[in-house]
Amino acid sequence: MRQEIIKKAADFLQTELRKTVGFTDRTERMVEYRIEHSFRVAGIAREIAKAEGFDEERMYVAALLHDIGYTVQYESAKDASRHGKVGAEIARPFFKELGYNDSEVEEMCYGIAIHVDDTSDFSGTRTPFALTVGDADNIDRFDTYRIYEGLHFMNFKELPLAEQIAFADKTIDKLKRFREYPYGTKTADKMWHEKIDFQLEFFNRLKNQLESSIADI
Ligand SMILES: [Fe+2]
Ligand SMILES: [Fe+2]
Repeated sequence: MRQEIIKKAADFLQTELRKTVGFTDRTERMVEYRIEHSFRVAGIAREIAKAEGFDEERMYVAALLHDIGYTVQYESAKDASRHGKVGAEIARPFFKELGYNDSEVEEMCYGIAIHVDDTSDFSGTRTPFALTVGDADNIDRFDTYRIYEGLHFMNFKELPLAEQIAFADKTIDKLKRFREYPYGTKTADKMWHEKIDFQLEFFNRLKNQLESSIADI
């Protein structure tokens, strides 16, 4: 990996995202979280690239900018689901500026475009490289931080016991379905299963603990 390229991409990401502090529902901490998440996703994508024999630098750069579409103000969560397609448009001239050729740029942009909902507004090929952008994003989103964030967001500690148990149950079912999600590479598949299995163990233990909270009669 060429350090000057990584630095340019990191600077671009940080500079552009930090301009969005003050957007509706966009605190400084949320923006910093987005940057931190982007560096983690780039690191995961690089690990996959290394194991699968992809160009590590190009993979790192594509994954680092996967959420660059968040430099635009969205009206709602539904509207924000455009951020993959918007991100591809923002990233395309920047990737060209870094010196990648047209087919390399298109593969990177396609990966960014489809990482949200597997759709794109331009044609492209679902290569293992392109799929790795979204795979790495999901692998980070299903790590430990998300467990905390999810429980905090829904104010889990204030829920009545029965609702807490029902939530744990629903989450276990959801995770079992997610576990079967087909990933772009064997390496990502292995990493994904490791994350999901950890979450399954957490929520199974949580459910067991909560279920033992009433009189044994
Ligand atoms: Fe995203
Ligand atoms: Fe993301």
